[in-house]
Order: sequence, then C-alpha cells, then structure tokens
Amino acid sequence: MDKKVNGLSDQQRFNLPRHIAIIMDGNGRWARKRFLPRAMGHKAGARAVRKVVEYCVEKKIETLTLFAFSRENWLRPEEEVSLLMTLFINTLEGEAQKMHKNNIRLQIIGDKSAFSDKLQTKIEEVEALTSANTGLNLLIAANYGGQWDIQQATQKLASEVKAGNLQPEEITESLIASNLSFANLPDPDLFIRTGGEERISNFMLWQLSYTELYFSQLLWPEFGKKELEKAIEDFSGRQRRFGKTGEQVISSAEESFKISC
Ligand code: FPP
Repeated sequence: MDKKVNGLSDQQRFNLPRHIAIIMDGNGRWARKRFLPRAMGHKAGARAVRKVVEYCVEKKIETLTLFAFSRENWLRPEEEVSLLMTLFINTLEGEAQKMHKNNIRLQIIGDKSAFSDKLQTKIEEVEALTSANTGLNLLIAANYGGQWDIQQATQKLASEVKAGNLQPEEITESLIASNLSFANLPDPDLFIRTGGEERISNFMLWQLSYTELYFSQLLWPEFGKKELEKAIEDFSGRQRRFGKTGEQVISSAEESFKISC
C-alpha cells in the first residue's frame, strides 16, 4: 500500500500519472540501423518492456498499458507475425513467476479469439495466476483497436436494446465506457509514443480524450527508465484543465491541499 504523507499518496504529491499508456514503436528501424533482422528489434523491444515495467513497479504507478499488437499488424509478413506470437508466448512463460512475485496483475486486452489455442491458454494461465495481485496493473493490448472496441461495445448495447432490456435514451457516456475493454480502469493520464511518429494509430480512442500526449524520438528498444522519467517529469509540469479555466484548476487544487493538511 502506498504510504500517505499529509493524507496524500506519492501519486498525488508528485503529480505522478496513475495510468500510463504506451505505443512501443520503432523496433524495426532499431534493427535496420544495426543491419539486423526485424526479429532482433522485437526481441530488444521485449527487453525494453521489462525495464519500463520495473520502473513502474518501483514508482508505484497503478496501471501501465502497452500496445503490443494492433488488429492491423496481421497484415505484416507471416514470418514476422509468427515471430511476434512466439515472443508473446515465451515472454508470458518466462516472466509469469517474476510478475507474480512482484505483485503485478496481468491482463490482455483485445480480441483473443484470433490467437492460437496455445497462446490463449497461456494468457488464461497467467491472468489467473496474477488476478489477485494488488501492485502494478499491467495491461497488454493485443489484437486490439480503439474502433474495434467501440464496435463491440455498441453491439452489446444494441443487443440489450433489441432484447428489450435497455432503452436507447438509457445509453449514457458512462454506460458505453463500462462496456469497453478498459471498463473499471482509470483513463490514461499520460500517453507515450516512441519512434518519432506523432499519431494515436487507433489506440484507446475513447479513453485518451483528456490524456496528456508525449512523443519520444527514441526507438522503442532505446527507451528505458531515464526516458520514462523524463516523460513523467514533463507530465508533472502540465496543467490539466478538463474543460475548466486555469484559475479554476488552481483554486480547486489549493482547496484540496487545505483539506488534506
Ligand atoms: C512496433 O514497432 C512494434 C510492434 C508492432 C510490436 C511490439 C512488440 C514488442 C515490443 C515486443 C514484445 C512485447 C511484449 C509485451 C512481450 P515496428 O515493428 O512497427 O517498428 P518500425 O516502425 O521501426 O518498423
């Protein structure tokens, strides 16, 4: 449990993000720069995942979401897709006990039905093993897309309307949110994309509405604790207004500081 000082957790005192979401881009370019096959770039990417997860555990970040495989990534050469699937299985096998020991709860977000039986079984095993853990909530988005997520939530709600269990006017923003894959989780506070591209690429479209965006020029395998720290520092200095004025935000922060002291 996070120790509180003056009634405030580390997250509140240092303005740390509760939820960080990352698009890990640049594995292929990292490999090409070194005249290596793309597979080596993905393997180096998996090592960077480990460093970032360790940092989030150390800093007591509540939730980390990593975009590992989009629905569009099936269009890559068969050899690369198969390498990525093997890498997921091996990483799950190799890291499961370590994650469990570190109190990490792992969940895979996305349409898992497209994965091999072996991968689906591995996912179920690791999710079950870590389900009661209370430390870092680690979410891996795989065969995921923001538009797909909104589509599947819409289909569920439409079926409820068709069955007569729901009236169209009862469909609120919060009902839609609770039918999305990231239901019951705080929206990301900080979004990071590595690799120099500045776009969202169909990632967490609904949940990123008020998220602070940070783009790093580093290729994903080069990204580590130092760069993540830099992103968090940048985030801590931002004023999040959620539609309010800057003055309103300052006075409500002063108010909550007085209450907690
Ligand atoms: C994007 O780089 C990266 C991916 C599509 C795969 C992400 C996978 C990993 C980081 C490895 C393992 C992850 C886990 C969670 C076990 P790219 O290939 O598009 O790079 P490029 O733009 O330079 O070609």
